[in-house]
Amino acid sequence: MIIDLQNVSYRKNGKTILEDINWQVEAGEHWIILGLNGSGKTTLLNLINGYIFPAYGGSANVLGYQFGSCPIADLRKHIGWISHALSQNIPVCDTPLEIILSGKFASIGLWDKVSDEDIRQAEAIMEKLGITKLRDRTYGSLSQGEKQKVVIGRALISDPDIIIFDEACNGLDIFAKKDLYELIEKLAQDKKSIFFVTHNTDEILPIFNKALLIRNGRIHSKGDLKDVIQLENLQDFYGSDVDVFERNDRFFIHAK
Ligand SMILES: Nc1ncnc2c1ncn2[C@@H]1O[C@H](COP(=O)(O)OP(=O)(O)OP(=O)(O)O)[C@@H](O)[C@H]1O
Ligand SMILES: [Mg+2]
Repeated sequence: MIIDLQNVSYRKNGKTILEDINWQVEAGEHWIILGLNGSGKTTLLNLINGYIFPAYGGSANVLGYQFGSCPIADLRKHIGWISHALSQNIPVCDTPLEIILSGKFASIGLWDKVSDEDIRQAEAIMEKLGITKLRDRTYGSLSQGEKQKVVIGRALISDPDIIIFDEACNGLDIFAKKDLYELIEKLAQDKKSIFFVTHNTDEILPIFNKALLIRNGRIHSKGDLKDVIQLENLQDFYGSDVDVFERNDRFFIHAK
């Protein structure tokens, strides 16, 4: 098991943001995570990443790191994090090479010393993502899609076991999205565990075999994708009339 959360809650400034979360993930599972704005998706993933700590009382274990009983600072080096919010926090003057290298240290900005081998590795990743020509540009001068590829490179350099995409398709054109989907499928074949948060319910690729629905900081339902992404469950989850259909092994959910 790579994630085991038992009765986990999270409170901030007197407000309960996550409540009584029980979630187990086995290696090789790929999860789609759905929930309306403010439901707690990013907070849950920040907790998985070790950026925030759960409230006293529950038990959280991620990749063998037991929260509260062993140092978890290294945990985030095993988790690749790709999010729209992260893309916006990267200093505009940093170069793609520096940004990708910073992924080795799970830092924003490159503060640590890097070796020639690290640089070779970053260059190989740039080659794989087709962004070699951007190597020494400034981040601020890149297009949205180019920025996204740099952030993906930053996540991949530490060869993580888990890769989280939190609204990673925001601002991408239809072809950049297709490239990203192909990359996700390749990463899934490479035995990475993928977590994918989205509001666009036409992004549920066939590789996703599990789904987690979060509402008001609580898990509404979780489990095999086909059991969770079905009409009655989704109508109950959204509290509204929705349509769900499957085409080419992909699910589509629309408000009616
Ligand atoms: N530091 C904080 N202090 C107070 N409230 C917070 C803090 N961080 C998050 N919240 C609140 O917790 C709730 C969950 O936030 P979170 O970012 O996890 O939602 P989300 O499901 O990712 O939403 P979105 O789809 O809009 O990204 C929101 O109501 C948010 O305002
Ligand atoms: Mg969010």
